[in-house]
Amino acid sequence: MTEKNLAEHAISARSRQNLMDAMRGEAFAFAKYKLFARQARNNGDCELADIFDKTADQEYLEHFVEQADLLQLVGTDEQDVTNAIAGESFEVDTLYKRFAEEAHEDGDEQVADRFEEIRRDEAFHQLAFHEALIKIQTRQRAIRGATRRSAKAHDF
Ligand SMILES: [Fe+2]
Ligand SMILES: [Fe+2]
Repeated sequence: MTEKNLAEHAISARSRQNLMDAMRGEAFAFAKYKLFARQARNNGDCELADIFDKTADQEYLEHFVEQADLLQLVGTDEQDVTNAIAGESFEVDTLYKRFAEEAHEDGDEQVADRFEEIRRDEAFHQLAFHEALIKIQTRQRAIRGATRRSAKAHDF
């Protein structure tokens, strides 16, 4: 493909899904290596801790970021906040709700309690993002209003 064709080529649904799956793996590896680094540092093995930290940074700052760029994950602040609300809402209304119920059904009370507690945190995240979205939209309306007023003022 020429460079122009490449730029116009829309990413296939399968590649988009694979990018999402790969990013989940990279995000998990980042978090996991951070925990491993903390453990190694607590045990006094700073050399091992540095390897975990350095690798974690590459998983996030290179692999995750490069794939997020391809997917155009980051948008305007309004789009990002809307995206975040959708993610938190899914966790509150579907994922952690179901996980807590299933853990309870299986008699894994500790796990069920943890899911429920996390679910409450996610509800606070959801609320915070909702408030942020309202602020952004209010600011935008004020800017649009000011622009209209100044355009009118120039009519005279
Ligand atoms: Fe990676
Ligand atoms: Fe959250």
